[in-house]
Amino acid sequence: MPEIIIVKDEAEAGELYARCVADLIKAKPDAVLGLATGSSPLAAYQALARVVHDEAIDVSAVRGFALDEYLGLPLTHPESYHSTIHRTVVEPLGLDPEKVHVPGDVLEGAPLEDGIGTDGHIGFNEPGSSLASGTRVKTLAEQTRIDNARFFDGDINQVPMHCITQGIGTIMKARHLVLLAFGAGKAEAIEETCEGGVSAFCPASALQMHPHATIIVDEEAA
Ligand code: GLP
Repeated sequence: MPEIIIVKDEAEAGELYARCVADLIKAKPDAVLGLATGSSPLAAYQALARVVHDEAIDVSAVRGFALDEYLGLPLTHPESYHSTIHRTVVEPLGLDPEKVHVPGDVLEGAPLEDGIGTDGHIGFNEPGSSLASGTRVKTLAEQTRIDNARFFDGDINQVPMHCITQGIGTIMKARHLVLLAFGAGKAEAIEETCEGGVSAFCPASALQMHPHATIIVDEEAA
């Protein structure tokens, strides 16, 4: 079972994530980080950037693989995950852009941080996804397009229909999985993830089978 940590807010979750990843990079300077988009990880990336700068941690050899990407958006679009990962992670942390790939190819033995969709998706593995590895082309669920319309002027028609994502099998090969979720809107998905049966209806429930998964949630999501 995943370990579940209930925190006060996103800032406290960010501090936990930042300490864990900063210590990893100190011990393993060429660590591979799995990188999620969405709003859930933003405070964690900011906290990690602060620790990296305060403790003058050398991140020049760190590699990063993003979980997923929209299909049909130019890389330069501000909401492409290429742009998002560079704006929210690569630049604040000072990573070498050459070592960060969106989306990832193979991600064995890496720690990976993720958010969760209100429908229980991880990466862009929507309900009904198999445990396949590799990088998969998928159709976005209607619920995810509705949720993500906030990044596209509230207009669902601007949200791409398709995406490319690391498969659940690939995500499961990460050495340490960290899932962050905040707010009541995630409570049902977290309940299914932690207490439901392992099922394709809730892709995140696969975390129940991972040997080292950490779920960090606030009171509302818990
Ligand atoms: C997008 C990402 C997912 C992420 C989800 C959660 O759909 N592709 O990887 O899990 O956002 O978003 P948020 O954290 O903003 O709720």
